[in-house]
Amino acid sequence: MLYLNYKNRMSKVILFFVFISGLAFTAEAQSLPSLRKQGVATQLIVEGKPYLMLAGELHNSACSNVEYMDGVWPRMKQLNMNTILAPVSWELVEPEEGKFDFTLVDAMIQGAEKSGIKLVILWFASWKNGGSIYMPSWVKKDYKRFPRAMNREGTSIEILSTFGEESMKADAKAFAAFMKYIHERDRNHTILMVQVENEMGILNTIRDFSPAANKAFNGPIPQDLSTYLSKNKNQLTPELQKVWIENGSRTTGTWEEVFGRSTLDVNNWRAMSFYTEELFMAYHYARYVGHIAQAGKKEHNIPLFVNAWLKGPDYPWTGRFPGGGPLPQVMDMWRCAAPAIDFLSPDIYVPHFREVVEQYDRLGNPMFIPETRGGDVGASRVLWAIGEHNIMGFSPFGIDRIRRTPASQPAAPVTDPLASTYELLDGMSELILQHQGKGTMRGLLVEKESPKQTFELGNYIVTADASMTQLLETAPAGGLIIQLGSDEYIVLGRNLNVRFAPRIPGDLPLIGVDKVYEGVFKNGIWTPGRLLNGDETHCSTFSGTGLKMPGLSIQRITLYRYK
Ligand code: DGJ
Repeated sequence: MLYLNYKNRMSKVILFFVFISGLAFTAEAQSLPSLRKQGVATQLIVEGKPYLMLAGELHNSACSNVEYMDGVWPRMKQLNMNTILAPVSWELVEPEEGKFDFTLVDAMIQGAEKSGIKLVILWFASWKNGGSIYMPSWVKKDYKRFPRAMNREGTSIEILSTFGEESMKADAKAFAAFMKYIHERDRNHTILMVQVENEMGILNTIRDFSPAANKAFNGPIPQDLSTYLSKNKNQLTPELQKVWIENGSRTTGTWEEVFGRSTLDVNNWRAMSFYTEELFMAYHYARYVGHIAQAGKKEHNIPLFVNAWLKGPDYPWTGRFPGGGPLPQVMDMWRCAAPAIDFLSPDIYVPHFREVVEQYDRLGNPMFIPETRGGDVGASRVLWAIGEHNIMGFSPFGIDRIRRTPASQPAAPVTDPLASTYELLDGMSELILQHQGKGTMRGLLVEKESPKQTFELGNYIVTADASMTQLLETAPAGGLIIQLGSDEYIVLGRNLNVRFAPRIPGDLPLIGVDKVYEGVFKNGIWTPGRLLNGDETHCSTFSGTGLKMPGLSIQRITLYRYK
């Protein structure tokens, strides 16, 4: 009897501990960075709240030396970055097979924490800019165990083949060890997300022609792709849908039977030259990277993504750009074969910035720009991309190059246009995040080729153009506008005029400016500055009704109606 009581009590105690550790586990899982939908937007959730990454990416070798980074952290803070994208390379963390060294990862987390900066880690491993240059020597040298891709002539190239199962497993093992390490070490969730590999894809050949690749290309398409095509036949990307329908909407057959024999148009970079080869490579890169991502997620479940070197006038088809990488025209292959990857993202160095962002904002793909240009150009584009496409973050490349002031000297006034823009965005981020995905916010982008933009927002038609057209010679003007009430808007703009007209003229067809305040957000609270009127606004029948925003400012306008 006594024994039974004792047993009973013990099982209650055990149950209690199981319950408590279950709670702790759930709390821990809840506070890990994650993605959440709000209307049509996807937001990054950090410590339970949406977070806007005002970021920059470091040069590739910055984090390989702690002393170098000691000088970088304060500069990042001066530039108003709240997040830094920084690489961790396979060669440094696993110099000998199975022996891991995370000293530099520790230093990075410490440096970031001390500076109040969050991190997005770039996992440089099997591939970086198409090539395979960041794997450890024991991988580089063992070309039998870790086979290279081959060109049409059967010559190996310095790119790991996606058909190397051993390569995939070795990379996955290292990635899982890294994710396990940060799961234990990164208790404050300084690391928000991880990019798996960097700008991968085949270069200098339209596809991998190794024997394994040839066999796969001439064999049936994989079963999961066949299922994906049947399941998603009405919601494929238009590029894929077109070739698939043209070739008979088949769900079985070889790659060329299902997607057609590729053509080449040397005169038109937008043509879908070698598209079947690109789809084939994309499926196989995605399968390989999806396996690595899944192994990492098991250890530490935070958002994982991939980035792309894009097709453009200088890189017109697969092999000229890294073919099979996560480009928008092969988004379906990635969605099919890499479910552990949460989103695809573009590195935008091509001139058609707006078009690229639009192409990635499809099929519910969460929006993030991990690499692009900064400066004046980036400062306008970031505002548009946040307002128009609900991006979770923006990150110009090579940000450790921008020295606002030597680290040893006191901070000078901010002169970098992106830093000033980030400062205003940071104050306003709570309001922006509240409005993401709800149809109450729009982006403004005025360029030399498209000097005027018009759309409807709430009760008004909004028109934006440049405050000085000469400025468009060097950089676009940009902004974002939020509808606060039926006659009230707030605009964060650079070098713009923003005019309003009634959407439905009705009984009160005429409008005027009631008040315009410039101001800033301090700790998220609107703090008005000057009341703008006269020369500082547009409030005449001659020039229209609205805001004058030369330079960078936040302005809040209320309009009134009359007849
Ligand atoms: C794109 C790559 O992803 C970066 O790592 C870096 O190499 C830049 N290109 C250099 O412009």
